[in-house]
Amino acid sequence: MTSVAPTDAPVLDGDPFSMETLADPIPFDTAVREAGPMVWLAKYGVWATGRHAVVDGIFRSWGTFISSAGTGMTNTKRETTWRRPSVILDQDPPDHTATRAIMTRLLSPRTMRKLKEQFAAEADRLVESLVARGEFDAALDLAEAFPLTVLPDAVGMAREGRQHLLPYSNVNFQAMGPRNRLWEEAVEQAGDAAEYVAWQMRREALTDDGLGAEIYAAADAGEITEEQAGLLVRTFLSAGVDTTVFGIGFALHSLMQNPDQWALLRAQPSLAKHVFEETLRHTPPSPIIGRTTKTATEVDGIQLEADQKVLLFLAAANRDPARWPDPDRFDITRQASGHMAFGAGIHACVGQLIARLEAECVLSAVARKVGSMELVGEPQIKYSNWLRGLTSLPVRVTAA
Ligand code: HEM
Repeated sequence: MTSVAPTDAPVLDGDPFSMETLADPIPFDTAVREAGPMVWLAKYGVWATGRHAVVDGIFRSWGTFISSAGTGMTNTKRETTWRRPSVILDQDPPDHTATRAIMTRLLSPRTMRKLKEQFAAEADRLVESLVARGEFDAALDLAEAFPLTVLPDAVGMAREGRQHLLPYSNVNFQAMGPRNRLWEEAVEQAGDAAEYVAWQMRREALTDDGLGAEIYAAADAGEITEEQAGLLVRTFLSAGVDTTVFGIGFALHSLMQNPDQWALLRAQPSLAKHVFEETLRHTPPSPIIGRTTKTATEVDGIQLEADQKVLLFLAAANRDPARWPDPDRFDITRQASGHMAFGAGIHACVGQLIARLEAECVLSAVARKVGSMELVGEPQIKYSNWLRGLTSLPVRVTAA
C-alpha cells in the first residue's frame, strides 16, 4: 500500500482501527463523511468514503470497484490472508454468478416461510425462560444464544463443536482490518476453530435435511464443484453468526435507551421488523467494507489510481443527513430502507432475509412477553476491526 497522499484530495490522519476510535466510532465516521466525497486515510494509504450516494454508486460499479482483490484491508492479489478467499464475497462476475445464484435460491422467501415457525417457537421459549429469571445478560443470553441455536440447526450442523463458531468468526472479521493487536489476539484465541470449520463444512458433517445439504445438492447437479460447496457452507459459519448477534444486541440496547420507541413496540409488536431495520441504519454491526479499483477512475472529481483500496464507511453513510433527516435519532417509524448495513448491488447480503427473520422473531417475542426492561449495568462493547457489537448488556425485566 502506498502512503503518499494524492494531490487535491482531502486527507485524514486519524486511525479508524485504534482502540479509541473503536470505543467511540461516530466522530471518525462523521469526519470521513464530512471531509469530502472521497478522503485519503494517510495512516493506511487507502481511500474512504462515508457519503450515502457515493457508497451506493461504488457498490453498483462492480466492474471498476472489484471484490476479487479482497473486501478487507489486504490486497489479496498481492498478499495472502489467513484463509482461502470466499467463493462468493471475494469474487467478481462471472466467478461470483453461480455461487450467488445458489445462495439466493437457498435463502429465498420460500425458505424463510419454512423456517419461520421453528424460529418463532424457539424465540418465544427462550424469552419466556429469561423473563422467568428476571435478570440476565441480554447480549449473551438472548442476542447471542438465539442465533447460535437456530442458524446452525437450519444449516444442519452437528451439535458438537459449536463453541468454535464465534472465535472463528472473530478471526475472520478481525483479519479484514489491519494486522494489529486485535487480529493477533483473535488468532491466538481461536484455538482449533479453523480445524473445526474445515470439518463442519464437509458433506459428511452435515445433516441431510438442512441448508448445507442443499448446497451439496447443487454440487451434485453440476452447478458448482464439491470444493465450492464446502466453501459456501463456510460462509454461514463466518458471515452468518455474529453479524446477527450484534444486530439483535444493538436493537435491544436502542430500545432501552429510547423508552418512547420501546413503548411503541410494546403497543404494536408487529413493529419488530421496523425496530431491526432502524437499528441496522442507526447502529449497523457491519460498519465498513472494502473494494479495490480495477482501473484508474474518478469519483466526484477526485482521481483514484488503479489497484487502490477503497473503504466504504457504511455506518457513516447510514447517518448521512443528505439521505435521512435527523439521522442520529433512533426512530422506528421512519423509512429506514436504503440503509447500507447489508451493502447494495450484486454483493448485497445474501443472508439478509434470514438475519431479518431471526431478529423479528426475537424482538416480537420481547415485545409480547416483556413488560419492562431496564439496564442494570454498563454495556460492554466488542473491540473489532470490522464489526461493531456488544459483549455484555445486563438487564432486568418483568413479565408483560
Ligand atoms: C445483521 C446481520 C448481517 C449483516 C449486518 C450483514 C452484512 C453484510 C454486508 C455489508 C455484506 C456485503 C459485502 C460486500 O458488499 O462486499 C454481506 C454479504 C454477505 N452476507 Fe451478510 N450480513 C448479515 C447476516 C448474514 C447472514 C445471516 C448470512 C448467512 C446466512 C450472511 C451471508 C453473507 C454472504 C454469503 C455475503 C456475500 C454476498 C455476495 O458477495 O454476493 N450474512 N453481508
